[in-house]
Formats: sequence, structure tokens, C-alpha cells
Amino acid sequence: MRKLALYLHIPFCKQKCKYCDFTSFCINGETKIEKYVEAICEQVKYYAQKSKDFEVTSIYFGGGTPSFIDVRYIKEILRVISENYSIIENPEITLEANPGTVDFKKLKKYKELNINRISFGVQTLNDELLKEIGRIHTAKEAIETFNLARDAGFNNISLDIIFGLPNQTLKDIEDTLDEFIKLSPEHISTYSLKIEENTVFGRLYKEHKLKLPSEELEREMYYTIKEKLKKAGYIQYEISNFAKAGYYSRHNTSYWERQDYLGFGVSAASCFNEVRFTNTEDFESYIGNPINNFSENEMLTKDMIDSEKIILGLRMLKGVDEDLFFKDEWKEALQKLINKGLLKREGENISLTDKGLDLANQVFVEFI
Ligand SMILES: C[S@@+](CC[C@H](N)C(=O)[O-])C[C@H]1O[C@@H](n2cnc3c(N)ncnc32)[C@H](O)[C@@H]1O
Ligand code: SF4
Repeated sequence: MRKLALYLHIPFCKQKCKYCDFTSFCINGETKIEKYVEAICEQVKYYAQKSKDFEVTSIYFGGGTPSFIDVRYIKEILRVISENYSIIENPEITLEANPGTVDFKKLKKYKELNINRISFGVQTLNDELLKEIGRIHTAKEAIETFNLARDAGFNNISLDIIFGLPNQTLKDIEDTLDEFIKLSPEHISTYSLKIEENTVFGRLYKEHKLKLPSEELEREMYYTIKEKLKKAGYIQYEISNFAKAGYYSRHNTSYWERQDYLGFGVSAASCFNEVRFTNTEDFESYIGNPINNFSENEMLTKDMIDSEKIILGLRMLKGVDEDLFFKDEWKEALQKLINKGLLKREGENISLTDKGLDLANQVFVEFI
């Protein structure tokens, strides 16, 4: 059977962070949430008919803030998935959670639902910075929440950090990482701040009111992160992702390896049977019609598929097979990049050098 990854977008947040452009809304009351979950379940059921040859290897609740909504909604979505899809015996089931939206009881309930991986958006452990970027939690609360998740039985926890924040110093990065390393999560994602147009930071940037670290300092932050995490035993298995051995994100790896995936909910993207489609970003429109309501829908050509195999594959540090560079122009480009010291050849394998990795980190701005 072919492998399938499922992504569920939960677009609700308690408060909008100043840097965030993900589809998410602050709402009051349960009615909209109830309607949304019904719509997601409808889309989940619809695609089950088309997924008979597949088995689900991972399920990922992302957002927005999936931990913001009541556990009963997550339970309902998981019930609909398990009743309609074939699932491997031990699927990876991840839920993104924000410190400040979960307590021990909620975490225990997630565990009972067989959610086996939690990803906490911590971003920084500097209280002033947390406030400046619009987070709802303090550093102390983030650490407490991490410990609660451990107590609830989670042995696969990921933490997110953002570097390059306004007024962030190298010391802040060092301190945050030292704390992270003490907590010893299994996985750490590190994102370089991207200024998005339709955000508070986007507006402030345009008005020249944002004091961002220089490019050199941002690079230094990135090297510090790499060095510290390497010393602490983390493997950088992808441009932005570090993990202890055996704890690579299975779900994200399936994107980079170009397995089929289905995305449910507003703005969720899918790549299924070599058709790529993205659901509408319009909340009301999605609730009214969650099926075949796309903002983008394209059949991938062989050329697109072949070049994606290289581009996505090179995000992973293990690299790709040289056979993928079968076109003359790609062979030429490969040799040029090797000559420039950005790619390296080891036997039949092509992968990023440290210099290539550094550049890719600046270029690959989207994170999944
Ligand atoms: C979409 S958020 C969802 C997780 C959760 N709601 C949270 O905030 O913790 C996933 C991660 O993307 C990262 N992120 C979001 N916007 C970003 C931006 N403009 N630049 C860099 N990283 C960003 C943050 O690290 C965040 O934890
Ligand atoms: S970063 Fe997370 S919590 Fe903040 S607005 Fe975006 S999705 Fe919501």
C-alpha cells in the first residue's frame, strides 16, 4: 500500500502574534469552531473514498493553535479518520500546542487519544521579547508546560525557536538554547524570522520602526544554534530541523520525500496522485463548501516532479541520488554548485556542504 500523511489545519488562536501570517483567527464562542470541525470531517470523509490504496503513516494537527480548541473536537476528527482510513500500527500523531493553552488534564487527554508527539511554539525564553512579539506566555510558563507534557507521558516533544527577532541579541539565543538543552526535548525546529507583509511586523518594517539584527548577527545566531545543538547531541537532519537519533519528524520527512499528503481545513495544501491543491483561505467559504473549494489546483508535469525531487530532497542533509540530475542542464548546474562548494558528491550521493546549507537556510524561507 502507498503511504499517506494527513495534515489538519486548526485556524484558531487566542491572540495573533505580531510576526505570524498563517491562516488563523481570534474568535469568541464555540459555534464557529463546531461548524469548522464539521466541515473538516466532511472533507476527511470525502477523501477517504479516494484513498483506498493508501495507508496513513502520520497525522499532524497544525495551526493556528490546535491546543486552543476543546479536546472533544480533536477526538472527533481522529474518530472520523480512524473510521474511514487504513492506518499503520504506530502512526506518528503530532499536535502543535502553545504554552498558555494547555494544562495537565488536557495533555493527559491528548495522550489518551494516542497523540504521541507534541510541538510547542516557544520561540524565545526572554520574557521581554516574548511580550514584544505578541506571545501569550512567559518563559516560566513555557518551561512549566514542557514539564507538564513530560509528566503526562510525552516522550517525543519538539520545541520551536525563532532567531533574528527585533532587538534579539546573541546572548538571548545562547540563553534560550542552553535552557532548551537542559529540558532535553527530542526535537528542535529553528526558524529565521521572516517579515510577512500582512502582519504587525510587516507594517512596522515598512515604516522603518523595526530594529532587526544585522545580517551578520543573524548568521552568527544560526551558527551558534548549529554548534550548540551539535555539541548537545542533536543531528541537523534538515535545514531548519534538529533531532536526537530516532526522532526525526516522520510527517515533515514525508513532505521532503514527496510522499502523498492530504491537507484538510482552510488554506491546507495537498499533493495527491501528483496533483497539488490548496484549500480556500476563506473561512466562511470553506465552512459552506469544504469539498473541492481550492485557491490553487494544478496537475504536476514530469518536469516539475523531477525538479521537486531534487529541491525537496536536498533540504534533508542525507542528500539525494546523483541519478536525479539526469538532464544535461541539471548536470551542468550540479557541477557548477559543486565547484562553488555548495554541494558535495560522495559516491552516488549529492548533498549540501556547510556553505550550501547556510545559503539554503537563507533561501528556503517557507517552513512546513
Ligand atoms: C504556525 S506556527 C503554529 C504553532 C503555534 N501556534 C505556535 O505559535 O506556537 C508554527 C511555527 O512557525 C514559526 N513561525 C510562524 N511565523 C513565523 C515567521 N514570520 N518567521 C519565522 N517563523 C515563524 C514559529 O516558530 C511557530 O512556532
Ligand atoms: S504563531 Fe502560532 S499562536 Fe501566534 S498567531 Fe501564529 S499560529 Fe497563532
